[in-house]
Amino acid sequence: MTSDLSSSLSRLIPYWGAGTVPEGSTLGRYVSAATIDLLNHPQAIGNHFDYRKAIPMIGLDVEDVYPNGRTALSDEYTDLSYMVSQYGPPESAVNAMREGTSAANVGFYPPDILQSLREKAAIKKFGRPRVPGEFDVIGTEGAQGAIGYTFLTFLNHGDEVIITDPGYMHFASCAVAVGATPVPIALTEANNYRLTAADVERAITPRTKMLVVCDPINPFGTVQPRESLLEIARLCHEHNIVIFNNTTHSGHQIDPSIQQVPMASLYNEVPTEHIMSASGLSKSHGLAAIRVGFLAGSAAFIKAVASVRMEITKIHINYIGQLGALAAMQDEAYVAASTEWLRGNAKLLADAVKDIDGVRQPIAPEYGFSTMLDVAETGVTAQELTVALFKRKQAVIPGDALGDVGATDYVRVNFSHRDRGRIERFVDVLPDAIREAQKGVYRDAVIDFFRHQKSQRGQRIIDNIESRRG
Ligand SMILES: Cc1ncc(COP(=O)(O)O)c(C=O)c1O
Repeated sequence: MTSDLSSSLSRLIPYWGAGTVPEGSTLGRYVSAATIDLLNHPQAIGNHFDYRKAIPMIGLDVEDVYPNGRTALSDEYTDLSYMVSQYGPPESAVNAMREGTSAANVGFYPPDILQSLREKAAIKKFGRPRVPGEFDVIGTEGAQGAIGYTFLTFLNHGDEVIITDPGYMHFASCAVAVGATPVPIALTEANNYRLTAADVERAITPRTKMLVVCDPINPFGTVQPRESLLEIARLCHEHNIVIFNNTTHSGHQIDPSIQQVPMASLYNEVPTEHIMSASGLSKSHGLAAIRVGFLAGSAAFIKAVASVRMEITKIHINYIGQLGALAAMQDEAYVAASTEWLRGNAKLLADAVKDIDGVRQPIAPEYGFSTMLDVAETGVTAQELTVALFKRKQAVIPGDALGDVGATDYVRVNFSHRDRGRIERFVDVLPDAIREAQKGVYRDAVIDFFRHQKSQRGQRIIDNIESRRG
């Protein structure tokens, strides 16, 4: 089953094969130890479960779901899995890029980002004006570029990085890719699905080098209270721990009573020179394909990251994308309209889920468009349900992609779609998908996938499914 998927997906995506690296393999003799650790990590590409794994399990082929070689689901599917804004970009940004597409604008190396974009990102994304030589912003290839360059710059082999579990999948696997060790803090009802300074303090060891504060938190959409950010900033400063504050989901305020605070903006109250801040436009403005993001921090730290970036991908950021980014960040009407829309979608989803047996939303999102559904009480795993939902043309992502906590219980849902009927359709088919999965029809296929994948997390998922069999 899994090898069918690997071979059919590799027609479209050359690196997609699933499975860990066998002991003594040829690859292991050539690539770095950190890369082998990454290839064996349960959240590495191909290793976690997602809707793609369902393709052969329901008797389809990749060409059936990805028409014309574009690895994006065809329109008959609703992709609620990846965290791209499905509200779509502002018209103003698309027009700016159309008008800006000239020979002169595509034929040069754009040096980092436009001055005006730098100033705007500093204020709008990080809540602090630029002060050259003190606090500055550089462009990156999306917020993801900011993660990669920062981890490469600050982390030594063996350093520990404190990360929430569940959390955005690439924090843990990126730490592993650079030789560091992710140390999880479980997000549960006990901490109200957000970091506390006490949790962080307990997780600190002499090897702790970095704390990731993803705020708003992907996947729950919860926000750190201002007071806790101040405590965390002080605590990490005392311990020489770099804070990586990823605020990329701050574009849409779903709960009007909650205010998200970028940590860089706290510079008058606490030391902030140890805080690196990242954001992008994929979520706030539906501009994922332009690959424009931002990294901000104290000037010396920014220079260090920019120097590393120079040797890896050089210092150039998509210029046409920058023109779109600038127009988007000036478009207040877009932010107001998209926020209102997402609030409506969030309410629709939360209300509908209350009436579905066995499904629970552990906490309502306060910002962004990501939420978790807990399906534990349905008696099926999130992985089996992912397959049954995909058969009904709904793509979601199960918990094992995001951590150990809730690995078989959580399904993450992106509720940003511009077509509200899509969210209605999802909640309409959910009970039927649960009933089908409850018959156990996908159990063996899911077990087979994790057997092939051979990670400890996979084994726990197998054990979990087996224990439900009785
Ligand atoms: C927390 C977080 N950071 C970074 C990214 C990647 O964003 P970008 O497209 O700006 O690289 C995502 C995408 O899901 C995310 O959720």
